[in-house]
Amino acid sequence: MTRPDVPLAGVIGNPIGHSRSPLMHKYWLQRYDLLGDYVRLQVAERDLESVVRTLPRMGFVGANVTIPHKTAVLKIADFISDRATLIGAANTLIFREDGIIHADNTDGYGFMTNVRNGAPDWDPKSGPAVVLGAGGAARAIIVALADAGVPQILLANRTRNKAEALRAEFGQRITVVDWVQAGNVLEEAVILINTTSLGMTGQPELRVPLDGLRPGTVVTDIVYTPLQTGLLQKAAAMGCVTVDGLGMLLHQGVPGFERWFGQRPEVDEALRAAVLA
Ligand code: ATR
Repeated sequence: MTRPDVPLAGVIGNPIGHSRSPLMHKYWLQRYDLLGDYVRLQVAERDLESVVRTLPRMGFVGANVTIPHKTAVLKIADFISDRATLIGAANTLIFREDGIIHADNTDGYGFMTNVRNGAPDWDPKSGPAVVLGAGGAARAIIVALADAGVPQILLANRTRNKAEALRAEFGQRITVVDWVQAGNVLEEAVILINTTSLGMTGQPELRVPLDGLRPGTVVTDIVYTPLQTGLLQKAAAMGCVTVDGLGMLLHQGVPGFERWFGQRPEVDEALRAAVLA
């Protein structure tokens, strides 16, 4: 396959209308004066394989993958990174010139880079992390935390079974905590991470009591609509170091853009503004 005249990328999901990824990638294309485009691709589950196999033949050099296709896409890819294998999901596809479809997962990278930038004094090895939620986002974050040397992960999920399953899969570093007990372990945390959809516009608020949080604890949310979730507002008022979730979205896009368009893009205030507009 030859390199297309105008390289294309996109985000594959269903629904896809609300995705902010095009704002980010189009901003970068313009900023670095690169030829290319990035589009939303609404694809039903039954069409996923034929679409993914066809895209490279119509000028696509890669794609992001989002709900509900992140796991199914692993069955289609020819090469899967160790990270994506471990997490059990991919969010980034690279269509190589030799025809190989490469799947990677950059969600953990996006999470970690966002928190390291927003809370530069956080030392992952210094103490336990409390993780709320045990869905797809939690998997990527737990793998990233373990990679970074976090000694203990206290994991609370409404459906306890799902947290137990993650412990069985990812090991003894995880301690499962009852959802209703989550507030009682916050005192031990050096970082608290909400990976649930609670607090998102249109969803219920997160109701875990936060009184146990110590000042200086890092608190971060994967929810970024609104940017200042109820959790982040309360934590900031208690003297915690808060990191909003938009940066995770922005940083997870960096490795894909670099592979597709040949330029490592920067995450800065102008990009945040462009994506929030
Ligand atoms: P994602 O891929 O974004 O992580 P997901 O896999 O659907 O999405 O996971 C959503 C997470 O939010 C889960 O941990 C879910 O808890 P359950 O496993 O009990 O479903 C959590 N969640 C969603 N709504 C919730 C609510 N009203 N109360 C508590 N947890 C909730």
